[in-house]
Amino acid sequence: MKNFVVSARKYRPLEFDAVVGQSHITHTLEHAIDNNQLAQALLFCGPRGVGKTTCARILARKINEKYGDTDEHDFAFNIFELDAASNNSVEDIRNLIEQVRYAPQVGKYKVYIIDEVHMLSNAAFNAFLKTLEEPPAHAIFILATTEKQKIIPTILSRCQIYDFKRIEIDDIKDQLKKIAEEEGIQYEEDAIYIIAQKADGGLRDALSIFDRLVTFTQKNLTVAAVSENLSVLDYDYYFKITDLSLKNDIPGLLLIFHDIVKKGFDPQLFISGLGSHFRDLMVAQNPQTIALLEVGVNTKQKYLQQAQSCSSRMLIDAIEICHQADINFRNSKSPKLSIEIALMQLASLTVGESNIIKKKNSG
Ligand SMILES: Nc1ncnc2c1ncn2[C@@H]1O[C@H](COP(=O)(O)OP(=O)(O)O)[C@@H](O)[C@H]1O
Ligand SMILES: [Mg+2]
Repeated sequence: MKNFVVSARKYRPLEFDAVVGQSHITHTLEHAIDNNQLAQALLFCGPRGVGKTTCARILARKINEKYGDTDEHDFAFNIFELDAASNNSVEDIRNLIEQVRYAPQVGKYKVYIIDEVHMLSNAAFNAFLKTLEEPPAHAIFILATTEKQKIIPTILSRCQIYDFKRIEIDDIKDQLKKIAEEEGIQYEEDAIYIIAQKADGGLRDALSIFDRLVTFTQKNLTVAAVSENLSVLDYDYYFKITDLSLKNDIPGLLLIFHDIVKKGFDPQLFISGLGSHFRDLMVAQNPQTIALLEVGVNTKQKYLQQAQSCSSRMLIDAIEICHQADINFRNSKSPKLSIEIALMQLASLTVGESNIIKKKNSG
């Protein structure tokens, strides 16, 4: 049996082209190499799992390919990586500084990647500062950190700074789809979308959620299975609740809520999720705002469709009701009741005569 390699490792890009969502950085770096404009100290900042280490390694290799021997084996000796998360003492940095002094045996540059550089101790930072101030001509430093604010200004001012971005949901989705296809994993597009959403901009996180769910679902990523595992309420519930509200079906709503709670879903997440659902219907009503809808393609169709059956007046009231219930939930002695009241109000929105909201507003 083949050993299982986690996707985050298996799919670490080896070329700038393959790096997703950071083209503002990869283009600049490629350009800098082509035009010999590379700084001697670079700082890669940004959230975790968005490609900092990956780009540092690619850049280090490119530098060696350009200025070095063509023998891959030789220039591997010209790339040094220090993980400051586990090697952060003054001695660790002194050892490194000691090495920096010697010119490379082959090639022109030695590249030092110092990852999680904010973890260096103060003393280590200070020791490093001198070297960074006047690095030997053959040394290039690539520092990476998730916590730019922890880097002292003297270091910041000596580095060319590259800010890595969170990766957009659509880019994450595309990458996951590519991997799913390569690995022969069945998926519903919208299930992949939910994973991408959950990853909150980090591709490494997306890949580890993906791996976990591939195992959990035995290589069949359905919306239902993914939602359940990630404790995301299946969109279908919200669509159903909207339909029931339009039909003024109070019993139906109370039953569906009961069902959701029984499944162990947090009622407060439910009511705020429902509020977002109405908000999404609202943006789906207007061609100008459809772009604000962050869902997969199939789900998007459902939104466009359901938005047709709601008036914007009803949606505004519905958003307000959910918002209020969310607030009441926190303060109420019987929080579940505050949600049930909200559901009853939702069911009454289109009733006309007995419209609770209208009565309340006029009385
Ligand atoms: N921008 C990206 N493009 C493609 N894959 C990425 C990207 N960012 C992260 N990854 C995936 O996540 C893994 C970890 O990325 P890494 O570069 O170590 O993140 P960071 O150093 O920013 O925390 C990579 O091996 C790769 O599989
Ligand atoms: Mg890293």
